[in-house]
Amino acid sequence: MRARRQPIAMLTCYDFPTAQTLAAAGVHILLVGDSAANTVLGLASTREIPVDFLMTITAAVRRGAPNSFVMADMPHLGMATADTALTTATRFMRECQADAVKVECTGADLPMIQSLLAAGIPVCAHLGLLPQRVTDPEGYRAQGRTTAEAQRIIGDAILMRRAGAQLLLLEAVPDEVSAAVVAQVDCPVLGCGAGPSCDGHVIVWHDLLGFNPRPPRFAQPLADAPALLTEAAKTYVQEVASRAYPALRHQYHMKAGETVGNAVAEVRGGKPAGAGQE
Ligand code: KIV
Repeated sequence: MRARRQPIAMLTCYDFPTAQTLAAAGVHILLVGDSAANTVLGLASTREIPVDFLMTITAAVRRGAPNSFVMADMPHLGMATADTALTTATRFMRECQADAVKVECTGADLPMIQSLLAAGIPVCAHLGLLPQRVTDPEGYRAQGRTTAEAQRIIGDAILMRRAGAQLLLLEAVPDEVSAAVVAQVDCPVLGCGAGPSCDGHVIVWHDLLGFNPRPPRFAQPLADAPALLTEAAKTYVQEVASRAYPALRHQYHMKAGETVGNAVAEVRGGKPAGAGQE
């Protein structure tokens, strides 16, 4: 797609029905992001997401989108050492049938990235803002806004591509920096708040749906899913309250000739239904 200059549309995805929906809508890459920590589990930081939880949902997304490109996000807790990272990435590939893993990294992580690549695991190197390394909410800020920061990001991008990373992802960097990275490498560069020069773009599905009251400036909602879901839930509550639900069509019925009276009599040792009740 990069060679054809066709923009790549990528969204985060965390479950089976959403994977079916996004695949049918033509989304090119489904990212099972560690942002599930925030969007699905309600945790404050992506650093806390359990490895096995991400494994479970990555496998679910694969079942929902068997023919899509599924990218698994390497969780902070699954990358304590280079060996742990290799184990985690191998599980994503074997147990969840992921197509690639995304790793938040800097040049200092080159040995770990090299060990994944040496094991034949396709890698997307995530540069720029690295949420897993943010321990203070003030730390969520755009990267590469100074010459020195831009130089580090561009240098790391070249380093990761030379090492063999098949994809790069830039988060929260100015478009000038993205344009420079795109010009310096020959693989797709995906942007998350990284401007129009990127070969593709990713945003968090829940931001697009309107679940985030304070979405980042690059992820304006395209739907009001909370309103839609609230409406459906309210209708259900009203139907239960008014006894409109369950209606006849929602019920199961006993087979012809079978009666519940006989069932009760059997339970009570042959006594007719209702006899001897306290
Ligand atoms: O986990 C995630 O959703 C991400 C994107 C923001 C790129 O890493």
